[in-house]
Amino acid sequence: MSKTAPQYAPSFEMNKQIAILAEDMGFDYVFSMSKWRGFGGATNFWDVTLESLTLMTGLAAVTSRIGLIATMQPLLFPPAVAAKMAATVDELSKGRLGLNIVAGSFLDEYDQMGLLPPDYGPNRYRYAREWLHVVKRLWTEDSVTFDGDWFHLRDCKSGPHPVQKPHPFLICSGTSDEGFRFAAQEANYSFVGGVTPEHTKQLSLRMKQIAAEHGRTIKSATTLLPILAETQADAEKQWKYIQDGADTEALETLISYFTRVSRESGKSRIEKMKSSVCYTGRIFLGTPAMMADLIEELVVDAGVDSIQLLWPDYISGLKQFHAEVMPLLQRRQLVLAQ
Ligand SMILES: Cc1cc2nc3c(=O)[nH]c(=O)nc-3n(C[C@H](O)[C@H](O)[C@H](O)COP(=O)(O)O)c2cc1C
Repeated sequence: MSKTAPQYAPSFEMNKQIAILAEDMGFDYVFSMSKWRGFGGATNFWDVTLESLTLMTGLAAVTSRIGLIATMQPLLFPPAVAAKMAATVDELSKGRLGLNIVAGSFLDEYDQMGLLPPDYGPNRYRYAREWLHVVKRLWTEDSVTFDGDWFHLRDCKSGPHPVQKPHPFLICSGTSDEGFRFAAQEANYSFVGGVTPEHTKQLSLRMKQIAAEHGRTIKSATTLLPILAETQADAEKQWKYIQDGADTEALETLISYFTRVSRESGKSRIEKMKSSVCYTGRIFLGTPAMMADLIEELVVDAGVDSIQLLWPDYISGLKQFHAEVMPLLQRRQLVLAQ
């Protein structure tokens, strides 16, 4: 959220270019967020966003290998509609869809639409659980009859079933204790944070332990935002330039939201936003070699299964990562040669 960060509108053409670059470079997936209300400010931060699943549908048609992760918010799609939409994208992408389930990050998004039920906040994971239970049944059974707290289906049919069996892979990126439990019980991947590789390792082990207690296995992922330069001091300088342009109005909007809802998982975000224009992912400032070291630590020592990368500018960021970090990872046999 910075006036001195690259500014762009997320057009389909731009997303297409990013997805094709990432596919050619050997990345496993592209991941799109679901965002229905931005944070304004001088940068109009996230005021313009493309809908996630329809974006992935378009990207499926212009790529052939890369995984496509769309984010879905259960409150916005009745389960029978969501099940068929996801099965459709899984069919046309030949089994490449993943779904990131967001139970409710910013409830103002729903409120502005008149779609926020009373008491949704504290019940959001119960709602998401029931929603996902129904969606999973529609993906795997010929007919579903169900009577729950929120959903009622009678002989409901949903064909085709997804190409991936039993269903597209699922991600949950909730960071509260309840979000963590939801991921462990329902998802195939969960995002964990952590300020050091050791911290990330502990969170990843805890997630896997909770999943094991429910007779399941789960993979962990973590997010990095690299700023790479020839020296660490240069990378720090680049970051300081972005940090100095902080869009304080957009940041304030976000901080006031998290303060108002006083959600446990929002507290660490507030702290992070007070010192940084980026509230998600771990910011890494250093040389390509230092980045390769960190990835090795995370993958080999901390046992993290997947690393998601964010950049202020995805096209130049991807190209730099490919030219300067990928060869180091290949030499260490951490990625397959392209
Ligand atoms: C990798 C990642 C992706 C996320 N994607 C979205 C998203 O697309 N839309 C959204 O509203 N929230 C998104 N979130 C927020 C989480 O789903 C979640 O609401 C937040 O971490 C707060 O956790 P809690 O809901 O368990 O309290 C994302 C979080 C992470 C770590």
